[in-house]
Amino acid sequence: MTFSSDFLWGSASAAYQIEGAFEEGGKGPSIWDEWAHLPGKTFEGTNGDVACDHYHRFNEDIALMKEMGLKTYRFSIAWTRIFPEGTGAENAEGIAFYNALIDALLANEIVPMVTLYHWDLPKALQDRYQGWESLEVVDDFVQYAIKCFECFGDRVKHWIVMNEPNIFTSLGYVMKLHPPGYQDEALFLKTFHHTVLAHAKTVIAYKERGYTGMIGSSIAYSPSYAASEKAEDLYAKEMFDATGPLWYLDSYYKGTYPEKGVHYYTKKGVMPTVTDEEIQMMKKGAALCDFIGINYYQTAMVAHNPEDGVGFSGMNTTGKKGTQSENGVPGLYKHVRNESLEYTDWDWAIDPDGLRYGLEILKERYDLPIIISENGLGAYDVVTEDEAVHDDYRIRFLRQHIEACEAAIDNGVELLAYCTWSFTDLLSWLNGFKKRYGFVHIDFESGSLKRLKKDSFEWYKQVIASNGRNLG
Ligand code: BG6
Repeated sequence: MTFSSDFLWGSASAAYQIEGAFEEGGKGPSIWDEWAHLPGKTFEGTNGDVACDHYHRFNEDIALMKEMGLKTYRFSIAWTRIFPEGTGAENAEGIAFYNALIDALLANEIVPMVTLYHWDLPKALQDRYQGWESLEVVDDFVQYAIKCFECFGDRVKHWIVMNEPNIFTSLGYVMKLHPPGYQDEALFLKTFHHTVLAHAKTVIAYKERGYTGMIGSSIAYSPSYAASEKAEDLYAKEMFDATGPLWYLDSYYKGTYPEKGVHYYTKKGVMPTVTDEEIQMMKKGAALCDFIGINYYQTAMVAHNPEDGVGFSGMNTTGKKGTQSENGVPGLYKHVRNESLEYTDWDWAIDPDGLRYGLEILKERYDLPIIISENGLGAYDVVTEDEAVHDDYRIRFLRQHIEACEAAIDNGVELLAYCTWSFTDLLSWLNGFKKRYGFVHIDFESGSLKRLKKDSFEWYKQVIASNGRNLG
């Protein structure tokens, strides 16, 4: 049997993308509540004010999870529900909400897997000291995390400290697509470094308090290929790795930054200050992690990019296939289309073999158990006249990725959990409600928010029931 008997078949979400009730229950505003209300920042002005209204309908959603037989549900806690101002007085109503959610999951034999930070920083901290730019955020984050451990740690045994710190800092501080919408490489590196410190300090705080659950963070991981065997493309791949995936993974899971990347950023004059004391803490935190979390969607094909080559020119957020332009870092590398792969309508490469390739790299480099905390296909879905969604494309996508997990496990990778993105359809930060990922369709169009099981729901149910033996 490839998958162990306690393998966690799961599905994931994030507070801002599903909860709604953005001004209810004593919640304070987050940077996303503000950003999504600014004109022109999100696809067609969509926001998470209501989203899936999961805040009021979580029992209905959990009943569907139970029906499916889901083993684990990964969700995030909104910091602003616990501490509306980021620090100071806690909000009893927010704590009560997550207690009710966790208790309902456990009552239905679903393991809660909790993300502490999925991008919704309290606006108060952005206003007070520019959020992630300030070292102050590290201790404020740790205090918030400790409060969550105290409130929920008796029942929650799986903690993901950060979700995709590489994405929210690069999109927020280089690409101007996430709040605070800056373009400043030095700030990107500095804010990312602060996430590493917050992660390490939180992991240490968890272990020092004697909790016995598992803790780690989730990195958005795109394994890379060189576009050709030419030396310049191979070099481009090396530099992409050293300033990309390995920059993120080594800092979290080794407690150091890769030398080539440090050299490059130092020469460029953008390397943040990293003290010896910080390195000690990063290493200590890394050594205490119980697993590596990865969110896997696609691989990267990388080619040489001359000094006067392409820079960042935007992302396909319209869902019009083929509209993604070439992106890169001049003088370092650029992303090119991988002609051997198919692409989604949002121009994301579909590459199940890349997942296996990536898992085996992680095993070799870090030798830790792995949790796949997100994997899924964003697609247009159609509700047919007989009130069904025949999402065979999603089933195919997930089946192939589960087969890749199987192959990696057979090659020695210790995989603890596989969470699809996502359980219900939800708000995509930059792509609105049309880009759907769920097993459960939500009627956003009429506003009824009615839940409807897609074909993939029944399919995943059978995958779970057979512990991965029956992939259909
Ligand atoms: C990950 C995030 O980056 O990918 C999720 O953790 C996100 O929050 C998911 O929704 C899919 O991305 P997108 O842009 O298609 O919504």
